[in-house]
Amino acid sequence: MSISLDQYRQWLAERHSVRAFTPELVEHGLIKAIFTAAQQAPSNCNSQPWRVWLVRGEACERLRQQLVTAVSQGEIYPQDFTSVENFSGLYRERQIDCARALYDAMGIERTDKPARLDAMLRNYAFFDAPQVLFIGMNKAFGYNNALDVGIYVQSLVLAMHAAGLGACVQGALAHHAPLVRQFVNMPDDVGLLTGISFGYPAPTPANSARTTRANFDEVVTVIE
Ligand SMILES: Cc1cc2nc3c(=O)[nH]c(=O)nc-3n(C[C@H](O)[C@H](O)[C@H](O)COP(=O)(O)O)c2cc1C
Repeated sequence: MSISLDQYRQWLAERHSVRAFTPELVEHGLIKAIFTAAQQAPSNCNSQPWRVWLVRGEACERLRQQLVTAVSQGEIYPQDFTSVENFSGLYRERQIDCARALYDAMGIERTDKPARLDAMLRNYAFFDAPQVLFIGMNKAFGYNNALDVGIYVQSLVLAMHAAGLGACVQGALAHHAPLVRQFVNMPDDVGLLTGISFGYPAPTPANSARTTRANFDEVVTVIE
């Protein structure tokens, strides 16, 4: 089986983050097929360091309530892994562009702080998805193992795309690690890296947001 590079590029470009979902649950058989496909991701020494917790249905509803309540009350919990939240320079510009694409699609003015706060809170409501997953790895692992998990995450998101589902990888869901850890009964030696809301995309303005990408010359240095 083979597809052309052009077809692959077009198919990749069709994927975008989905931030509104219908209430329809993804059935167990399809979930298993998607995760089985993603398990093909390569990793250092084939260590497959990712650990996944899938929360669906009524449990997802309970966790949604708990997270939204905690975040709305301004509770801030530590993350399991350190991360850079404040970009500068080029990276800050890209961060602003991506926020603008979403807010423009949703009709939110840059100065409308309450609306932006509501949009941020949608992260913790899993964008209404009836299922969400959390991905972790051993706390003792380093950047090379986190790379493995990143490759796994992309494999998973693309498997969902192939199945006609939408997904949003959410660093925000690692911001309240203790609450999530307790809910899913995560072992002490595993740290939470990210969460992913996924399901069937709902036809809403938020899902019409599209982002751009840097050109080849901005990214690749060729030495010959
Ligand atoms: C590691 C990672 C963390 C992200 N965290 C969030 C998040 O917390 N909330 C959110 O709405 N989108 C989040 N995103 C989605 C990005 O904003 C999105 O992938 C990027 O703007 C490119 O847009 P696209 O996915 O539509 O192509 C995250 C993506 C990645 C890969």
